[in-house]
Parts: sequence; structure tokens; C-alpha cells
Amino acid sequence: MTGSEHVGFQSLTTEHHDVTPDIEGSIPAWLSGTLLRNGPGRFEAGGQRVNHWFDGLAMLRRYAFDDGELRYSNRFLRTEAYSDAMAGRLTGQFGTDTRGWRRILDTLRSFGLPDPTDNANVHVARLDGEFVALTEAPRRVAFDPQTLETRGEFAFDDDLTEHITAAHLVVDPTHDETVGFATQFGLSPQYHIYRVPAGGREREVIASLDARGPAYIHDCSVTDSHVVLVESPLTLSVLRALNPLSEGAIDMLEWSPEEPTRLLVVDRSSGELVADPTFEATFCFHHVNAYCEDGDVVVDLIEFPDSDIVGSLSLDELDGQGFPDVPAGELQRYRIDPAANTVDRTPLYVGGMELPRVPRGRTGRPYRYAYGQATDRDGANGLVKVDCETGQATEWWEQGVYVEEPIPIQRPAGTAEDDGVVVATALDVDRERTLLLVFDAETLTVEARAVLPHAEPFGFHGRFFPDVVPE
Ligand SMILES: [Fe+2]
Repeated sequence: MTGSEHVGFQSLTTEHHDVTPDIEGSIPAWLSGTLLRNGPGRFEAGGQRVNHWFDGLAMLRRYAFDDGELRYSNRFLRTEAYSDAMAGRLTGQFGTDTRGWRRILDTLRSFGLPDPTDNANVHVARLDGEFVALTEAPRRVAFDPQTLETRGEFAFDDDLTEHITAAHLVVDPTHDETVGFATQFGLSPQYHIYRVPAGGREREVIASLDARGPAYIHDCSVTDSHVVLVESPLTLSVLRALNPLSEGAIDMLEWSPEEPTRLLVVDRSSGELVADPTFEATFCFHHVNAYCEDGDVVVDLIEFPDSDIVGSLSLDELDGQGFPDVPAGELQRYRIDPAANTVDRTPLYVGGMELPRVPRGRTGRPYRYAYGQATDRDGANGLVKVDCETGQATEWWEQGVYVEEPIPIQRPAGTAEDDGVVVATALDVDRERTLLLVFDAETLTVEARAVLPHAEPFGFHGRFFPDVVPE
């Protein structure tokens, strides 16, 4: 199979270490720290191309800021999946027929131990002092945040059973802990919601909830007192995956629009399920944020009307037309009344939004501004800032420039929520280069545009670590 016509889905083979890109404009001198991003970097092995964007080989990206300067590195994770690819064997996990999910399916039949892929290409986190690459298969890979060298597999010090796990972990700055969840298959499937106390690697189970389906759940959110999951009727069907024509986990997914979506609100202290209201079938990958207000639990999500977004991200769809003609994600606010077990939904932005982020210090607390990728502009993906109090949106986009996940970073001495910058990588298809853009977080004016030495394939998620300064 040939590669994509769109540079954002073409494989990269070069690795750079600590290069200093040219910068147009200037990066604020106060911006200090390192953005570490993860995503697929290579889509072929042995003459075969993976089927789904989610299946490319994990490649880490490092953008280190210090006193107005930027240093850039990229490096593939040296995993078993990487070794297999170098030997001409393609392995994947989501939409590609490979050993990872086959082994999980074998596990479902035997209820034994899984042996899933280690191609951890979705996200990064810091756990017990280690920097760790994450995916939805329960294997994690540690790496050096300066050199990006692979340090080896990271294992939690517990015996939690997980067949599919969350690559999105919520780092709560006020509780000094990280919250995540995992799904356990079996006769009575369950979602295990857990916390990892700072400085430890033993997960403490907050709650184990009976799962319907179980559903494919990608993300969660926290308030000061709760953890929130969204259980859509996109379920993981073992029977479908056992079909001999199955291509991988994507064929496990079954959309049942006649079934409702259920919000699961769990008390973080007691583990009690305090509310589980239902509403019409919708799907979401990403939570924006959540918080408590006047006894209600407010949860903001990027919502899709159905699960078509999952299939639209297959490379068959993406290769032909460039960036996907995907359904538009909408920023929706859900206000849950736990006493009545009801939920009200209010749209905040319906212009097409994904990969949402809020400033780190606002996680789980009342907040005003949500930033995200503005999807499906005319030959572009832009940046959008939504004022969740007024519903007003500020947008930036430029023809041929595809903004990836934006990271808002507050100025340390600032007081306003949007006093700071938004940092985002963006693929400039005319230059065939990825850019690192630094925006004013208040106005979305571009303050700096750094030109990287190559075009990166589109990545997924990253995290900014203010205390990781370039050595
Ligand atoms: Fe995600």
C-alpha cells in the first residue's frame, strides 16, 4: 500500500536531537519548561501500511523553552513494536490485524493474562518521577525527558486487572494525585477508577463500577470531589471481534443508537456512585473539564452525534483526501443534579472543536476559557478559545496550516486566567514543515512561529512540564 498524499500522514524516519529552530517573532522570556508530545511517526513496515491513524509507531517530540529560546528533538520509542517494524513485521493495536489485540481477544476467551502491544503512542505522564508514554493497551514505556531515550517498561506496583486502559490521566494540582481508569472484561465487566498518589506507583482503587457493554471510554474528568466517566453506547463487542474478517479492535466496536449515554459520577472519597443520569446516544473522546457549583456537577465535553468519527480516522479515509472530513465535535456543557439524578445540556460552541485543554491550574475547578483545535476549516485546522461564561469564541486559522493540540500555559506572575500563552504545533503543508506556534492566550495573536527541521506526522497529546528545563 502507498503512503498518504497528505504530509500529515506520511512516515518520518529522521530523528533530530536538540536542534535550535529558526524563530519568526519572539518567545516570551518567562516561558520556561518542556512540552513533551506523543503520536504516530511511522505507518509502514515490511511494505505494509497500518489501517488506522491510531496505529503508527510511537514517536516522542520535545520542545524545550528557556529564556526566549527553543530546542527541539524527536525520537521513536524503542519498543518491541518498533523492533518488529524494523524487522519488517507490522504490529498495531486499534484498526490493524496484529498480535496486540489478537492476544487480548485470546485473553477474553481464557480470562488469563494479556500480552498487548507496547506501542505507547497516545499521551505522556509523569508517574513516580518517571516520564511515561501511554496508550490504551496496558503497557507503559518510560523515557528520558531530555534525550527522549527509551528507559524501558514502566510497571505499576499493584495487581489491578486491566484489559483496556486510559491513556488520559488527570493530574489534579490541588490533590497531589493523578486519576485514571481501566476496563476489565469478563462475565461482569467493570470500570476501575483509581488514583496514583504523587511520588508512588501503587494505584488505589477509588471505585469499581459495573460496566454496560463495556463501552469504549477514552477520557475522564475530575471535580474537587468527583470523578466523571461518560459511558456511550459505543461498546466493545467480543463476538464481533471474533469474526474471521475482523481487522482488529476497531471491529470490536458496536454503536447502538437506541441505547442511551450514561454519565457516571463517583465520589472521590467514598467511591460511591452518586449519580448516573442518562440521555440520548452521543459519543465523546475528550473531556474539557469539570467542577462543582451550587451542589451541581458541571462537566464540559467535546461531543459527537454518533461514533462515525472513529471510522473516519482510518487511513483509508485519510489517505485519499488529506485531513479528514470528520463530523464536527461540539463543546457541550452538562449540568448534573446528583440529588435528582438529572442532567441538563447546553451547547457552548458548535463550530467544530477537538483536542480541548484548559490551564493546568483550572483542572477540576470553575474556569472560564476552553482552548481547542478548531477543526475542519477550509484547508486548515485552527485554534479556538471559547469563553464558557458568554459563549463567545475567538478563532485563529490560516490556509494550509493544521494546528494540533493547544496547550494553554499561564504566566507565573499573572492573575487573569488567560494571562499567558497557548503553545501548539501546526503542520504547514506548503512549507512541508511543522511549526511551533506561540499565541497570546488572551487575543490568540501569534507571538512566535518556530520552523522545525521537518514535517511531523499529526500527533495526539502532550503535556507541559514547567520544571523540566533544557540541560
Ligand atoms: Fe485522546
